[in-house]
Amino acid sequence: MNILAIAGSLRAASYNRQLAEAAGAALAKLHPEIDYRILAWDDVPFMNQDAEHPAPAAVTRVRDEVKRADGLWLFSPEYNHAIPGPLKNLLDWLSRPVSDTEGQVLAGKPVALAGASIGMSGAAHAQDQLVGVLSFLDARIMNQPRLAIPHIATQAEDGVLKLDASAPYLEKQAETFVRFIDRQS
Ligand code: FNR
Repeated sequence: MNILAIAGSLRAASYNRQLAEAAGAALAKLHPEIDYRILAWDDVPFMNQDAEHPAPAAVTRVRDEVKRADGLWLFSPEYNHAIPGPLKNLLDWLSRPVSDTEGQVLAGKPVALAGASIGMSGAAHAQDQLVGVLSFLDARIMNQPRLAIPHIATQAEDGVLKLDASAPYLEKQAETFVRFIDRQS
């Protein structure tokens, strides 16, 4: 099995990226056999239908990585109670058919939703919107558990995530997601 994580923030010291790294560590303890990677996508350009054909190289690469994944694990903050613009842009590229004969890569894909924010919502608003977008794209969303961590800075020291209180929830989501992917295949 291979799981591809997508951190919804491009910030170098992103809490959500650190959360994705912590998820990889949790998964490795539970299931060392699972191949886990975090997608690099900061080179994906703005969606522009004039530039769709042929697809930019970065878009082809991320589509291939998503296509190969047995499951996607999203870790996203929210910007103004919404999906961060860069992440929405990535999903917009992924939403388009690969070619005349090959559809878009999110259809049927098992997806788990996690995220953190410094405010009290834990990025739950963005997750609600992600459910809408991903449902429209026929992804298979794991509705429970979702992980929304509020006040994430209280679980960090000098910007480094310690993830004290939330670690068990991350482990539970990891375990449940592996079973969810198994059931879908
Ligand atoms: C934020 N932040 C934020 N936090 C929150 O709890 N609710 C919100 O609606 C917003 N809105 C928002 C908009 C924009 C444009 C920025 C840049 C930030 C704060 C956010 O939670 C914080 O910056 C996180 O650290 C972002 O996640 P990463 O980059 O650490 O993963």
